[in-house]
Amino acid sequence: MADFVQIDQTGTTTLPHPTLRGLGDLEKDSEQPFATSASGISQTDLPIPIDAVPDPLVVFDAEGIIRGANRLLTQLLGYNDSALIGQPVETLYPDADRAAHRSVRQTFLSRASDPMPTMHREVFARRRNGTLIPIELSMMLVPTAVGVMFTASMRDSSRHVEIEKALTEAADEADAANVAKSRFLGTMSHELRTPLNAIIGFSEMIQHETLGPLPHEKYADYVRTIGVSARHLLDLINELIDLSLIEDNSLRLKLEPSDIKEILEECRSVIEPKAHSQSLKLRLLLPTGQTAYPVDPQRLRQVVLNLLSNAIKFTDTGGTITLALSKDATGMKVQVSDTGTGIAPAVLENIFELYVRSETDRNVTAGGLGIGLHVSKRLTEAMGGNITITSTLGEGTTVTLAFPPSTAIPANER
Ligand SMILES: Nc1ncnc2c1ncn2[C@@H]1O[C@H](COP(=O)(O)OP(=O)(O)OP(=O)(O)O)[C@@H](O)[C@H]1O
Ligand SMILES: [Mg+2]
Repeated sequence: MADFVQIDQTGTTTLPHPTLRGLGDLEKDSEQPFATSASGISQTDLPIPIDAVPDPLVVFDAEGIIRGANRLLTQLLGYNDSALIGQPVETLYPDADRAAHRSVRQTFLSRASDPMPTMHREVFARRRNGTLIPIELSMMLVPTAVGVMFTASMRDSSRHVEIEKALTEAADEADAANVAKSRFLGTMSHELRTPLNAIIGFSEMIQHETLGPLPHEKYADYVRTIGVSARHLLDLINELIDLSLIEDNSLRLKLEPSDIKEILEECRSVIEPKAHSQSLKLRLLLPTGQTAYPVDPQRLRQVVLNLLSNAIKFTDTGGTITLALSKDATGMKVQVSDTGTGIAPAVLENIFELYVRSETDRNVTAGGLGIGLHVSKRLTEAMGGNITITSTLGEGTTVTLAFPPSTAIPANER
C-alpha cells in the first residue's frame, strides 16, 4: 500500500491518515474521515506519498512509537525501509540525549490544544551504526482520527555546522592577524619616533645657529625643510600609534574637568598661522559663562586640531573656517565648519571608517592616510561624546562633537 500524507488547504502537511507506512493494525480505520486542521479548515483529499516529502520525516504516536518514516529519513540514518517501525523514537537520538527527548515530547504533548503546535531545535541524531549527525529537528503535533501524532522532519545540518566552524575559524584567524598587525604598527612606530625626535631636536639647534652661524644661507632653508618634514612624519607616526592603541582597545584616557573654551582658544592659536598662509578666515565663536567639562584635554585638542586641519586642507583660498562652542540643556557642542569642497554623499556614508577618503585630485595632492576622522570618532566616544558630520558638495562641511550634560561637574560650574 502507498504511504500518504495529507495536505490541508493552508498547504500544511499533516499525517492523520492510517495508510502511513507501518501503521499496521490501524489500517482498518482507513475509511475514517480526515481530521480537521487546527485552523478549522477541513482538509481536501490530496493523498501524497510520504516519500514525496522533501525532508527526512518520521511519524510517531503519543507514546513515542514510530509509526512511519520516509525513505529520506531511513537513508539518512542508515536503516532498512521498515526497520524503524514499532521502535521507540528515542532510538534515533544519542543515548545521552534520550531522556531529554522523552521529556521534551511530554511537554510538547501538553500543548496539544494549541493551534498548530510546532517546535524547532538543532540536535544530534544517531545513525544505525552509532555515529552522530547534527540535524535541524522540526516537530509538529497533529490531532488525527486515530489520536495525536507527532511529525518530525530531520534535516541534515552537517554542512551548516561545517560552514559555521569554518567561519568561526576564519574570524579567529582574522582577529589574531589584526592584533599582530596593531602590535607591529605600535612597536614600529615607537622605534621610528626616537630617531625622529633626534632629527627634530638637532635641526632646531642648527636652525637657531646654537653653535655658530651657518656657512651658507641656503642651509637655513634646507634645515627648516628638514624640521617641517620631520614634524610632519612625527604627526603621522603619532597618529599610527594612537590607531594601534585604539584597535587594541588599550588606549587610556584621563578625563578631568577642563575649560573647553581654553582648549579651543589653544587650538585656534596653533592652527591660525596655517589658515593665514592659505588666506583662509578663521573664526572662533565662544559662549559666555562656564564651559567646564570632564575631558582628556590633550585628546580633545587632538580631535579639534584634526578637524581644523581637514577644514584647512579642503577649503579654497578666501574661504572661512569656523570653530564654535555652544551649550544648552542638551549639553555642550563643539563645531568645526568650513566653506570648502564638501564630501560626496556616497563617501559621507562611511566617512568615519578607517582609510575612507574622497578620491579627488585635492586629496591626492594634500596627502593623508584616512585615519584622522576614525581616530577622532573613537577619542570623542571615549570621552562620552559623539561625533556627526554634515556636508554638501561645493558648499562645505560641518563636524559636530556633542557631549551630554555632565554630572561630574558641580551645577554652578557647568
Ligand atoms: N572638512 C572636510 N571637507 C571635505 N572633505 C573632508 C573634510 N574632512 C574630511 N574630509 C574627507 O574625509 C576623508 C577622511 O578624512 P580623515 O581626516 O579621516 O583622513 P585624511 O585627512 O585624508 O588623512 P589623515 O589620516 O591624515 O587625517 C578625507 O580624505 C576627505 O576626503
Ligand atoms: Mg584628516
